[in-house]
Amino acid sequence: MCGIVGYIGKRDVAPLLLEGLQRLEYRGYDSAGVVVTSPKASGLKMVKAKGRVRDLEARVPKRFAGTTGIAHTRWATHGAPSDENAHPHLDAEGKVAVVHNGIIDNASDLRAKLTAEGVEFLSETDTEVLTHLIARSDADSLEEKVRQSLKLIEGTYGVAVLHADFPDRIVVARNGSPVVLGIGEKEMFVASDVAALVSHTRQIVTLDDGEMATIKADDFRTYTTSGTRTTAEPTTVEWEAESYDMGGHDTYMHKEISEQPDAVDRVLRGRIDDRFSTVHLGGLNLDAREARTIRRIKILGCGTSYHAGLIGAGLIESLARVPADAEPASEFRYRNPVVDPDTLYVAVSQSGETYDVLAAVQELKRKGARVLGVVNVVGSAIAREADGGMYVHAGPEVCVVSTKCFTNTVVAFALLALHLGRIRDLSVSDGKRIIEGLRKLPEQISEILESEAEIKKLADQYADAKSMMFIGRVRGYPVALEASLKLKEISYIHAEAYPASELKHGPLALIEPALPTVAIVPDDDLLEKNRAALEEIKARSGRILAVAHQEQEKADHTIVVPKNEPELDPILMGIPLQLLAYHTALSLGRDIDKPRNLAKSVTVE
Ligand code: F6R
Repeated sequence: MCGIVGYIGKRDVAPLLLEGLQRLEYRGYDSAGVVVTSPKASGLKMVKAKGRVRDLEARVPKRFAGTTGIAHTRWATHGAPSDENAHPHLDAEGKVAVVHNGIIDNASDLRAKLTAEGVEFLSETDTEVLTHLIARSDADSLEEKVRQSLKLIEGTYGVAVLHADFPDRIVVARNGSPVVLGIGEKEMFVASDVAALVSHTRQIVTLDDGEMATIKADDFRTYTTSGTRTTAEPTTVEWEAESYDMGGHDTYMHKEISEQPDAVDRVLRGRIDDRFSTVHLGGLNLDAREARTIRRIKILGCGTSYHAGLIGAGLIESLARVPADAEPASEFRYRNPVVDPDTLYVAVSQSGETYDVLAAVQELKRKGARVLGVVNVVGSAIAREADGGMYVHAGPEVCVVSTKCFTNTVVAFALLALHLGRIRDLSVSDGKRIIEGLRKLPEQISEILESEAEIKKLADQYADAKSMMFIGRVRGYPVALEASLKLKEISYIHAEAYPASELKHGPLALIEPALPTVAIVPDDDLLEKNRAALEEIKARSGRILAVAHQEQEKADHTIVVPKNEPELDPILMGIPLQLLAYHTALSLGRDIDKPRNLAKSVTVE
């Protein structure tokens, strides 16, 4: 949510920053801005604009030279999207520029105090208070000015500060919002996400919460907000720059859906042990004896990751026979949950940054719980906060809506369930059966992706719906939840998901020809029950699109998916529904990678 990028070196900075902003646009896209300077310049030059990065680019004058600068792409929290509310924010003299991700909770109090002291505010943002605090600080160094100002602030931040009197440096700080330094040859970068850096350098340093850094063209140092030096060991980013490109697809969503066979292959790679029909998950930091003492598993995540967690809980219950459930982390953290020492908590997050999930993890750890992370972004805050866990290796996910990461997270849960199951009561033959099923997934996903043209035709037929119902039973219900979320996020068609078993307890009243139903109908022991639900809908003249292992007589259309082990059905049944959402949104002309009102990585409450 919101993207920051900064550069200091010898190159012309504006094009570099604009390119970085393009790569970060998925984190926020309602306004953007850039400020530049250079060692010989007499001040700061700034341009900012409501709209996309391309709107900003159009406003950047031809003569906008500089070799140091910071830039921002915004997703509004305080103050509507406008030119004034766009970052950077400058003080009255135009000497201090601040870009900020996060929320300053005591901004109103600070604003009132500063206003009483005669400061005139130019925007409605919380960030502007920080600019004025830094500008008014009488400390000698920029580091000290920033440090003193941050002490007055309550809330979360990833900030970068440029000061006309200190043009040889950028000062950055992190508390709750990611800040990554990129180390180049006589040049340094800073960003809120490696996506903005990888085309220039893969050597990075990720700041911890409570850490600050000063970057100069040929040097950087890190220290805490109380001034103590810290050691920062650079690491190498796992992914090549091309992994962040669209790779010949029209949208990132399409690219990421298509990548799923390879992504699933990656999450399995090196983890399967055929000799003992199990999997090795070294990062869990959980030995067999500890694993046997777990009495319950509680999975926490938000949105799509929560849905993956629901499927994960089902997998754990059926394969490991440990009671398990999933709950939105955003709810869990506010209800003062009972933290049980025999429960293993699992936090799920693609970005590893989602604030609600991070806050839940921190609360659990304060209360002495053991927390594992199932995370995509390596080294992210949740991954670092957890006691252990597993990476899902989906690769960079740029589209705001999650697809390949959902699939890989569910596969990761299948591995976790198998691992725990084989330590507890799962037989060798069942272990073998699941492993064989997992191995078939990449090819079966490819097979589903080959039916894209037919799914597109179906999407065109259903795109006129004002609302859609998604139903599934037991394993199929989280698939319905996720498919309905995907559809509403990118097509803006209202969609509801219900357990098929609940239809007659109310939602059947909605059924009419204008409300199509998408039904998840696997060939499992609940097939007849699901067919009965289709009968009920048909009897009320409802249109039905089934996702099933064989043609469904009562359905108007059926998308047939290949059969695997019943436990793994949710993985395959979700894939055609990603394509259905995609093509529905496409036929309605939606901006698929950047749906309205949404941004990736929700780092605020
Ligand atoms: C939906 C979607 C969101 C995220 C949610 C959690 O397509 O992407 O619902 O799943 O915001 O994000 P992560 O997984 O990064 O914690």
